Amino acid sequence: MRAALQAGPPCDYVAAMDWQCDKLDRRLSVAPMMDRTDRHCRSFLRAISARVLLYTEMITTGAILHGYQKRILGYDEAEHPLALQLGGADPDALATCARLAAEHGYDEINLNVGCPSQRVQAARFGACLMAEPATVAACVAGMIEASDLPVTVKSRIGIDQRDRYEDLLAFVDRIADAGCRTFIVHARKAWLTGLDPEENRNIPPLRHDLVHRLKKDRADLEIIINGGIINLDEATEHLDRVDGVMIGRAGYSDPYMLAEADRRIFGAREAAPSRAEIIARFMPYIAARLDEGVYLSHITRHMLGLYSGIPGARAWRRHLSENACRPGAGLAVVEDAAGLAEAGARHLQAA
Ligand SMILES: Cc1cc2nc3c(=O)[nH]c(=O)nc-3n(C[C@H](O)[C@H](O)[C@H](O)COP(=O)(O)O)c2cc1C
Repeated sequence: MRAALQAGPPCDYVAAMDWQCDKLDRRLSVAPMMDRTDRHCRSFLRAISARVLLYTEMITTGAILHGYQKRILGYDEAEHPLALQLGGADPDALATCARLAAEHGYDEINLNVGCPSQRVQAARFGACLMAEPATVAACVAGMIEASDLPVTVKSRIGIDQRDRYEDLLAFVDRIADAGCRTFIVHARKAWLTGLDPEENRNIPPLRHDLVHRLKKDRADLEIIINGGIINLDEATEHLDRVDGVMIGRAGYSDPYMLAEADRRIFGAREAAPSRAEIIARFMPYIAARLDEGVYLSHITRHMLGLYSGIPGARAWRRHLSENACRPGAGLAVVEDAAGLAEAGARHLQAA
């Protein structure tokens, strides 16, 4: 869909489609995930795909404004393209964070309007903001004013009883009026009471049809679909109806599925790297972090799914889990785990 749109007139003449002027290619992204998509995880994913858009975990404005910014906002240059996801509801604080994001070189700023956790609700941001479109609009306007970066919003399709398609449309229109051109929509509503965040990612039914409809009704906006998409076949099907696909849990538990993304989704010519090639590519990153005193297990915990679904998976996971946390654990642990996994894979192929 996007390729077809890009064949149209230059951006200057198509104000209504100005998201196309923002150079980021959002056809495939990996979702922001707390306690998962930290910088080690993102660097590992980047060793698998050069093109997929990566998101940080949600970082609250409070953490940025009162914390050690160099550590909180720091990342490895190789992680680009990289979006910073912010959590907050104060337009001034978000504007300051947007400015800092630009100074740190992020490629996009995303506002979290989808997290239903009790802690986040208590601070009055996340999914509960779907009931306050004027606040979100003020936040977005402030962030746009404060930086040149694209500002995007990640929401649900609705919350609680506010779950009619018309409510979603009105929410999107209000935020679009404030200047946001890109919406990432998790195709499930969230219940703000009664379900915990994990249940809220599984129990409310998936309504991909509503996100497809949103794209149909608001063709001038960039609409990214998220929720329950588990492989590139499904992603490719969605790309006929929306502008981009965001994959969360499946991309984390089976990251090798992203190895084909550059070729299949982004049109790159290179063949997908093998798992062994990915590990080899990632070794310099691990070595550099070990030199800085990072524990090996803090990095390898994100790599456990690399052999997911193939012979050798168990040996890989087990060797890493048992050995990466030992004092002084180094690169040899990863090399040995890879050797065991590859041997397991060969053994079963030969059998
Ligand atoms: C462990 C975990 C942490 C998450 N943290 C965030 C977060 O920080 N910000 C956010 O917008 N969504 C967060 N999510 C939701 C995901 O971004 C995504 O919307 C959700 O998992 C649905 O996509 P999926 O079915 O492809 O996993 C998290 C999900 C998981 C599983």
